[in-house]
Amino acid sequence: MKLAISGKGGVGKTTLTALLATSMVERGYRVTAIDADPNPTLAAALGFPSQPITPLLELREEIEQRVGGTGGLVRLNPRVDDLVDRVAVVHRGIRLVVAGAITRGGAGCACPQSVLLRRVIEFLALERDQALLVDLEAGLEHLGRRSAHAADALLVVVDPSRASLETAVRIKRLAAEIGMAQVLGVANRVRGSADEAYLAAHLDGLELIGAIPYSEALVEAERAGGQAAEVDAAASGAVARLIDALEARFQGRISE
Ligand SMILES: Nc1ncnc2c1ncn2[C@@H]1O[C@H](COP(=O)(O)OP(=O)(O)O)[C@@H](O)[C@H]1O
Ligand SMILES: [Mg+2]
Repeated sequence: MKLAISGKGGVGKTTLTALLATSMVERGYRVTAIDADPNPTLAAALGFPSQPITPLLELREEIEQRVGGTGGLVRLNPRVDDLVDRVAVVHRGIRLVVAGAITRGGAGCACPQSVLLRRVIEFLALERDQALLVDLEAGLEHLGRRSAHAADALLVVVDPSRASLETAVRIKRLAAEIGMAQVLGVANRVRGSADEAYLAAHLDGLELIGAIPYSEALVEAERAGGQAAEVDAAASGAVARLIDALEARFQGRISE
């Protein structure tokens, strides 16, 4: 199963990525997670020990060597497997790659860091026998066409707020532009029937594949600086149902 996770800032992308990663490992998946947010928080949400993790995009010399320097020719298909091995960290069965921030050039440019990050996501999306979860920002600039084709789905996290739903509509449009066929919504922070009704009325054609309830345990975990993966039964049950639904949907895909 290869999934990219997007949505408005603060909507719960990192939390959902951490919950999915933890549950998938419990189900026996081999899980790789990529934190592609320039402000990385996935390691903390996954309960990784607090030692610093080298972000992929800080391997400056290697990136210049592999991709080419700014101003010169850019090589679009550099070898990246060894770079992934260098920066990946593993905790409780989850392999994590932290991307870090692109320091030069605008989003989606052909600058070496951007090319390398796209290439790494594409490389991991094509890896066999691995589940892949990519915690993105609201934009999709790190997903190239090839990753979009290799991924099973883009999950767009929404909460019962107008802004998150408007962002979801924009993301859906961007996904269509890069040829991402499956765009599925996951509702988060749902507190009962009024929220459910609001969401249902404003999804604008976005199909919901799961819904995670508002969880005091997640609020407390965040305040304690702890991991998002340890939650109450209601939230973990919702995550389990979401994975069931994804498995049913993507059964028979080559990627696992
Ligand atoms: N279902 C939930 N119930 C309560 N709080 C949540 C829930 N999901 C996320 N949160 C909290 O919302 C905040 C933002 O979540 P986060 O996953 O960091 O969002 P994003 O990655 O989209 O910016 C965090 O403090 C997180 O603990
Ligand atoms: Mg986040």
